[in-house]
Amino acid sequence: MTPATIGILTCDDGSVAEATAELRAAAPDAHILEALAEGVLLVDAGRPFAALATHWRRTPPIFVRHMMPVQVVAPLGGHAGDPTYLARVLPGKLPALDAAVSFSVQTRVLMEAPYKPFDINTALASALTGEAGPTLDVRAPLQVVSVVCAVLKRWQPAPQLIVGGSVGKGRRQVALAGVSLAANNLSNWAGGMRRFAREEGQISRAEFKLLEAIEVFGIEMPAHGVALDLGAAPGGWTRVLRRAGQYVTAIDPGDLDARLEGDAGVRHRRMTAEQYLQSDPDSFDIIVNDMRMDARDSARVMAAYAKLLYPHGWALMTVKLPEQNRQPVLDQTFAILRPAYIIVGARQLFHNRSEITLFLKPKRERSNTYGD
Ligand SMILES: C[S@@+](CC[C@H](N)C(=O)[O-])C[C@H]1O[C@@H](n2cnc3c(N)ncnc32)[C@H](O)[C@@H]1O
Repeated sequence: MTPATIGILTCDDGSVAEATAELRAAAPDAHILEALAEGVLLVDAGRPFAALATHWRRTPPIFVRHMMPVQVVAPLGGHAGDPTYLARVLPGKLPALDAAVSFSVQTRVLMEAPYKPFDINTALASALTGEAGPTLDVRAPLQVVSVVCAVLKRWQPAPQLIVGGSVGKGRRQVALAGVSLAANNLSNWAGGMRRFAREEGQISRAEFKLLEAIEVFGIEMPAHGVALDLGAAPGGWTRVLRRAGQYVTAIDPGDLDARLEGDAGVRHRRMTAEQYLQSDPDSFDIIVNDMRMDARDSARVMAAYAKLLYPHGWALMTVKLPEQNRQPVLDQTFAILRPAYIIVGARQLFHNRSEITLFLKPKRERSNTYGD
């Protein structure tokens, strides 16, 4: 089989231009075939899709959140029989799964249909497990069967990609499917949509951003560390850090949630980050910054705080993206941070809206993932 060059990239629906630029930088011959939904792009990478995945494993993009190859296209009826139908036709046509390692089916349904992703996931997974088949691991699969059900408006797939009928002209409902290593998808979750259950006692939705960042960047918390939370109010990140056993100094002119008031492990300094820096501050294992502030100003504050971070420590910050001139602002932000930090990771997470998240380590004389 010729290696697939077709695939689906997913990004935040406000970051399509940035994700497209990342694709072009990584694969100059790539082109967008069509948008399947906002932030979901069907692309021809112009090179084997797996080669693009390998490239991005080494230097991950910031805005492309998820990628999957398209190796099979199956016309759909758009009715309740589709999941059973896909379970019958896809296994024989998709590249064989490695029976020795775990797998998961990840479906997105981007069209009107009387079924949910779960219905296709379960039907297809049971068709693929069989007696000697791979084991299902939904949370941390090593290989993934990705399925996107969508309406094609323009793209005419090559006949060898099509299974079970023909794909005519006009608006056509299809399942686009491919098998890949989870490590080649940029995320372990369908479309990069990492959802967390709401927890009892949760203070803010911002907590999800920190939880997702910890997972995506593989961050480890020190045992009983000391953390500084800049722009802490109402206290969601402080709560997450407390639950991970950290003592937290929370800096914000605003109020913290009343539920944090009686916690002796939280010290609220009701002032700005700039004022705290002038007030003989402590040193920290962790500095996090979710301040609502211009990206470059926030980077300047972080650069000034680097001296308070222990050499073994780490920092995490959200960078608010402007509506216009995003790339120059990002470039300036990175340039301000680089003398002080190694930028270990930079991603627009599922829970980031008009912002990205940076994972930073204090600088010693080492090279920088993002170019220095
Ligand atoms: C998005 S909220 C932070 C949410 C918080 N991470 C949570 O999980 O609850 C942004 C916060 O930044 C604070 N902020 C803005 N400028 C600041 C500054 N110069 N110093 C400290 N905090 C600042 C605001 O008061 C606001 O509470």
